[in-house]
Amino acid sequence: MEFIDVILKRRSIRAYKRKNIPEEILMRIIESARLAPSASNLQPWKFIIIRDNKAKQEIARLAKERMWIADASVIIAGVATNPDYRMGSGQSSSAIDIATAFAHMSLAATDEGLGTCWIGSFDSDGSKRFLGIPEKFLLVGLLTIGYPDEKPGEKDRKRIQEIICYEKWSD
Ligand SMILES: Cc1cc2nc3c(=O)[nH]c(=O)nc-3n(C[C@H](O)[C@H](O)[C@H](O)COP(=O)(O)O)c2cc1C
Repeated sequence: MEFIDVILKRRSIRAYKRKNIPEEILMRIIESARLAPSASNLQPWKFIIIRDNKAKQEIARLAKERMWIADASVIIAGVATNPDYRMGSGQSSSAIDIATAFAHMSLAATDEGLGTCWIGSFDSDGSKRFLGIPEKFLLVGLLTIGYPDEKPGEKDRKRIQEIICYEKWSD
């Protein structure tokens, strides 16, 4: 697929066919996360691949009972393993690093004809406990991946002129 078509096609998918993603396709998607940029190239992440049906159901329950999450072929939990690290700007990079990897995976999955959805709304403590994630790490987000069973309509986006200005800040 042309890159622009991948960008245009990627949408958050919240309905999935109950069909497994072949391992080699999943590994190509994970590879796109492995190659993602991260602050100081620390690669401070671990991605938990959740395929077990019972585990997916528990994750869906912990994600505000959004049970469609369990229909995805895979749920990936993005864990920041160096959550106290700060960039030169003073900002924490951990969520940014995971978000960048998730963006790579979303686009790679789209290119494979798959759908994804970032899940940021979940019981963090309960999910960490369930997944056995050490206390000191941060569970930044969950990413569902699977074969789409919906075609979302067009999504509202701000116009370009609303989101840019030139040289200096202007409202
Ligand atoms: C950081 C982040 C958190 C999100 N959390 C959720 C979520 O908890 N549940 C959900 O259904 N969608 C979630 N989304 C998906 C957004 O709602 C979606 O990206 C947005 O509405 C734009 O739609 P599109 O992805 O189809 O272009 C999240 C997206 C991002 C980037």
